[in-house]
Amino acid sequence: MKNLTEKLREEKFLSREEFKILLAQGGEELHNAAREVCESVFGRDIYIRGLIEFTNHCVQNCNYCGIRSGNKNAARYRLSPEEILSCCAEGYELGIRTFVLQGGEDNFYTDERLVEILRSIKQNHPDCAITLSVGERSKESYARLFDAGGDRYLLRHETANAEHYAALHPAGLTLASRKKCLFDLKEVGFQVGCGFMVGSPGQTLDHIAEDFEFIRELDPEMVGIGPFMPHADTACAGEPPGDLQLVLNALAILRLMKPTVLLPATTALGTLSKRGRELGVLAGANVVMPNLSPRAVRKQYMLYDNKISTSDDAALTKSRIAEQMKNVNREIVIGRGDANV
Ligand code: 5AD
Repeated sequence: MKNLTEKLREEKFLSREEFKILLAQGGEELHNAAREVCESVFGRDIYIRGLIEFTNHCVQNCNYCGIRSGNKNAARYRLSPEEILSCCAEGYELGIRTFVLQGGEDNFYTDERLVEILRSIKQNHPDCAITLSVGERSKESYARLFDAGGDRYLLRHETANAEHYAALHPAGLTLASRKKCLFDLKEVGFQVGCGFMVGSPGQTLDHIAEDFEFIRELDPEMVGIGPFMPHADTACAGEPPGDLQLVLNALAILRLMKPTVLLPATTALGTLSKRGRELGVLAGANVVMPNLSPRAVRKQYMLYDNKISTSDDAALTKSRIAEQMKNVNREIVIGRGDANV
């Protein structure tokens, strides 16, 4: 084990079999090595992003996701531009300098509408970064969003194995298309984030090893890794959630593979375990993403069941997270927290 952790630390890569061994056995030694590497790059700093879930309308019907189009029990909403701007203003007061606009794939949000929103956020907060997370679009659309002020883009690849991708998604969605979007986003100039769920139905350790291989190829600035969590109104309702240790091992491996990567301790990880975010940081994560969405709509952006902080406001969510970070000797910093420090 020591050997594999050391090898990963030195060579930044392992064979598929070695990845599988480290994923399965991982543990404290691996997490400690990842934490040390993270500290050597970022010190005690934790970057903070304010998540604004601005629409839960979605044309896609992904098997695992609570806001899939086929879920007739989901009460749909869209925030108005004014509501989005007021979330940003509230976040700014709390020291947040990156806003993440996340939504389902909602055709209401044409390029024109998104461009308008990006421009007004940048006008109000020129010192802030904007991250978009609005799914698959054309390269032309990505270019327009970048030109209007988008800085970063999150689009999880979900799984780098084509068959597994097909099993998790409805016909029409393909891994090839997802990958093309990610490479397009990079070419357009965005700082790019991919990522995957740990424990999604049908996932094997081989698949996660393939995820690492794809991540090496894409070379993203950010990677989102969290546990799969079941949602009652989906085809994956009866499936077990992802395994905590496996999530932590995956985070630690990523940190050793890519020392400067921006790696969040996700809300899903905080939902899986009370101490999830702390444990994530102890395994090499360096980003937290408190929710800035208005309280009234939080319960409606339910990607999975039992999501935390759905009845808190932004200030409380942020102060809870700040407390958790203090527990593990970390400090949230005010700043954009761009890639390549
Ligand atoms: N459990 C955990 N994560 C989920 N996501 C969607 N549904 C679930 C779920 N049931 C993740 C996907 C998506 C991101 C926005 O949320 O990975 O890319």
